[in-house]
Amino acid sequence: MTNQPDNSQNPVSFSREADILRFTTAGSVDDGKSTLIGRLLYEAGGLYDDHLASLRGDSKRLLREGMDLSFVTDGLKIEREQGITIDVAYRYFSTPRRNFIIADTPGHEQYTRNMATGASTADLAIVLVDVSRGVTIQSRRHAFIASLLGIRHMVIAVNKMDLVGYQEEAFLKVRKEFESFSTRLSIPDLEYIPVSALCGDNIVSHSDKMPWFQGIPLLKHLENVRIVGDRNLIDLRFPIQSVLRAPNGVRHYAGRLASGVVRVGEDVLILPSHRKTRVKGLTVAGAEEGMAFAPQSIALTLEDEIDIKRGDMVVRAGNMPKISREMEAILVWMDRVPLQTGKVYAIKHTTQTIKASVSRLHFVIAPATLSRSPAGVLQLNDIGRVSLSLFKPLFCDEYSRNRYTGSFIMIDPLTNMTVAAGMVIERGSGAASTLLSAEDQSKNRNIHPQEGDVIGLDRKRLLRQNPATVWLTGLSGSGKSSIAFALEKKLIAAGHVCYVLDGDNLRSGLNRDLNFSPESRRENIRRVAEVARLFNEAGIIIVVSFISPYREDREQARKIIGIDRFLEVHVDAPLSVCEQRDPKGLYKKARAGLIAEFTGVSSPYEPPEKPACFLKTGEESVEACAGQVWELLVNGKFLESHD
Ligand code: ADX
Repeated sequence: MTNQPDNSQNPVSFSREADILRFTTAGSVDDGKSTLIGRLLYEAGGLYDDHLASLRGDSKRLLREGMDLSFVTDGLKIEREQGITIDVAYRYFSTPRRNFIIADTPGHEQYTRNMATGASTADLAIVLVDVSRGVTIQSRRHAFIASLLGIRHMVIAVNKMDLVGYQEEAFLKVRKEFESFSTRLSIPDLEYIPVSALCGDNIVSHSDKMPWFQGIPLLKHLENVRIVGDRNLIDLRFPIQSVLRAPNGVRHYAGRLASGVVRVGEDVLILPSHRKTRVKGLTVAGAEEGMAFAPQSIALTLEDEIDIKRGDMVVRAGNMPKISREMEAILVWMDRVPLQTGKVYAIKHTTQTIKASVSRLHFVIAPATLSRSPAGVLQLNDIGRVSLSLFKPLFCDEYSRNRYTGSFIMIDPLTNMTVAAGMVIERGSGAASTLLSAEDQSKNRNIHPQEGDVIGLDRKRLLRQNPATVWLTGLSGSGKSSIAFALEKKLIAAGHVCYVLDGDNLRSGLNRDLNFSPESRRENIRRVAEVARLFNEAGIIIVVSFISPYREDREQARKIIGIDRFLEVHVDAPLSVCEQRDPKGLYKKARAGLIAEFTGVSSPYEPPEKPACFLKTGEESVEACAGQVWELLVNGKFLESHD
């Protein structure tokens, strides 16, 4: 996952990131992958004449066209000898519309690891299927890994159409076969194109031998597929790669923007120190700029002198990654020696390395059938879901949200071998156990959390949303419940599954044993947070409407629910306004001494320091406030299917 193409040596000038399509090719040796790559390079004019001439003499496998295009793909000596490609090779070509980087990954089943490495930066995957052989286990495996790696665009190139007389039936048969499998993968954009890489049919222009095909030829499709929207420009994540000191003493922090946009003058936060500062200046490719966006390589200067080192990360205070010593992940195992739970491995994540062990192997997925088996072992080329314990907290995102901060490699510290590529997934039901005190844990040591085969992604796909908890906090009478119910109505009307947990409602049932002492309020908040977490795990969006006056209690709620799902919203009306409204007549009673420990009157309210947003109910309508939270959910990508 670390194998980045080195753009410095390629012959094409890659000036504009948006004009580059990174794609990966996958297929087995006999599917004609090398021929296809050769054909693309050839058609795009990427071949030099003298190179061609040498190939004509060199190739012993002279084919109909007088040369074998598979030999065009350089560095494939071993492939020539053994008939397999053994490593990821990057190739570059360009057409007037776009620049292309091909991560050429091997087709042999044993080399899944290379597939994982090559595909992790890819925008699109081409899966080659030999029409005369049909959909093989390898084709399925490749498609599965590509979908697992979050590649949103896939082309099934049904190759060797010349061998079946360019018959539509043969193409449709492959298409149908693949569709029955691909419906269970999350690939939002899937195209089927019948081609003959050897004869050049449907590569650049429509083949007159397949008039029945109404789609777009392969190279045209590659030129036109829209990828800009796939990039995460929301979450600012800038892992520091190096700290450079200029002759004038000013420190520059260099690295590649993993995601998001950064602007000069904006407030940022440094992890892990949580120190706040402001961006003073930034350069992109040596030139001063006002802003930069992922995946540009940049250098920043900051307003304050803070001790920042390689491995630290620049983020925004209101949009933090997950910071945790526990992690759920999918591992693609790449070593001959199987995974050992409990053994210490090194995790290389962004620009830092942390020790870790696998505390549990949940299941192994068979890529060809997508079936899950309760795992005994994870061995070479297996794909499994695990829980990891980290020796110190790691700041990461879910892979589906951020391919860079959501991926890592695992290294065996004894052999220094890369043993696995990993993808961070959302935390499973074990999350809360990390928050228990030692005493609680000892009480609970005979409790063993159980889980079924259904994972969060299945629910996200079903409900077409990403669960979140909108936590409305504020004084009694500030308007929390009205906003909560207005938001619920809006979400339900738009087809989202949502539910309100309201203070008064829970206090008349689940929490009827609690009063308004600080301890009782803490327990009140703990219980509602646990309930919200369960709802979230079921895939449902929750709106919590509780006074929740103590910062520490809300902080605990954030941890129980998960920091990336918890949206703290301050329903911010001045006490005087709330008291004037007094919808339940409680302020009056409290002032008369008839209610003890009444928030705002005889009990404190600690406003949030950095909420995701403020709702000024003294100035804005309920509808406008609900709209503001709606925007928050949209921007956080909660209101969309996850694939
Ligand atoms: S919290 O502080 O523990 O979060 P919660 O939101 O569950 O409070 O309940 C607040 C509701 O209980 C108020 O809206 C009000 O109707 C009622 N209430 C009764 N006594 C009190 C009190 N002493 N302080 C605050 N709210 C109270």
